[in-house]
Order: sequence, then structure tokens, then C-alpha cells
Amino acid sequence: MRFKNEDDYKQRIKRVVISKAEINQKLKSAGKYIDSIYDGRPILLVSVLKGAFVFLADLCREVSVPCEIAFMAAKSYFEDTKSSGSVAVTMDIAQDVSGYHVVIVEDIIDTGRTLSEVIKLIKARSPLSLHVVTLLDKPSRRVVELDADYSLFTIPDLFVIGYGLDFGEYYRNLPYIAEYAE
Ligand code: IMP
Ligand code: MG
Repeated sequence: MRFKNEDDYKQRIKRVVISKAEINQKLKSAGKYIDSIYDGRPILLVSVLKGAFVFLADLCREVSVPCEIAFMAAKSYFEDTKSSGSVAVTMDIAQDVSGYHVVIVEDIIDTGRTLSEVIKLIKARSPLSLHVVTLLDKPSRRVVELDADYSLFTIPDLFVIGYGLDFGEYYRNLPYIAEYAE
């Protein structure tokens, strides 16, 4: 493990930024938002691994319209100063996207580079419609112009962990969102 010991691991959880109770409350509104757009039409919830897996698991249980779940894994290659790069799909969606109203479920939009590439990929496959729902948004860090259709929380420029988000693959299992202490 990358920490000195368990105390070091715990001390890096600096403070709770968003509690599980706050997340639960917003999840209900996000589920209602999705239901309101699709009005009973079937949808495909697409999650970009791995960070969004906890959010997707909770969000899909707040949705009432018929829905299928799909996962996609992408690796991004960006040079520090460039706003565009490329995304390689390392695991693709099984469904033929052209037959679906697609909702991309994201953990966090930071610079926006990963998501903008994923959107391009999915749009190229002509979905019936495409919407983006994100758990967290850090607009102050944006490099690529991009807005989610629905964002549960807007946060300042902090590095956060928990509820699916990691630091070096750790902390994804925290039930709340916390600030990470370097
Ligand atoms: P973007 O392409 O810069 O928008 O990067 C988005 C990805 O970076 C997310 O899907 C996360 O995996 C990661 N990321 C960005 N900010 C954070 C953070 O505060 N905590 C954990 N992961 C983050
Ligand atoms: Mg990550």
C-alpha cells in the first residue's frame, strides 16, 4: 500500500465535504430529473469506469423509467497544456447505442477533457438523444467548454475522495465525499 500505515491512510481524509445524507437528498432530485426528461421512454445509463460506479448504483435506484445499464472504460492521453487529446476505449458498451436515449453518468467534471472525448465517441454512434448527469462539477478547472445537463454538486478546486472517487485507487469505498490531504 502507498501509505505509511493505517493512521497515515486515515489522516489524509481531511474533512467531509459532502455527507451521505446530502448525497441521498440530491439523488432523489436527480432521479426525478431523469424521469421527467424521458417520460416513460426506455433509456441507457452509461457509466464511465471506475469513479462513477457508486453514483450509478445509487442513481439507478432513483429512476423509474425502464432502463438498461452499460459500462465503458476509457484511458485518456493529454499533454498538460493541450486542451484536446485522445481517449482510448479500453472496455466498450455492449449495446448498439443508436437505439437508445443515452444518459452518461459521470463522477466529476474537472478539466472536462475526458468527458468531451467520451461525448464525441457516443455522438458518433447516433444515439436517439444524449444527456449528461454528473455527481460533482469543478467549473473553475475547466479547460474544455462543457456543461452537464444536471450536476448534483458544484465544488471549488479541491481534490476530493470517496463515494467512488479515488486517490491512487484508494478511498472509493468511503460513503461520503471528503477532501484529501496531501
Ligand atoms: P477531466 O478530464 O479533467 O474532467 O478529468 C475527470 C477525471 O479526473 C475524473 O473522472 C476523475 O477520475 C479524475 N478527477 C478529477 N478531479 C478529481 C478529484 O477531485 N478527485 C478524484 N478524481 C478526480
Ligand atoms: Mg481517478
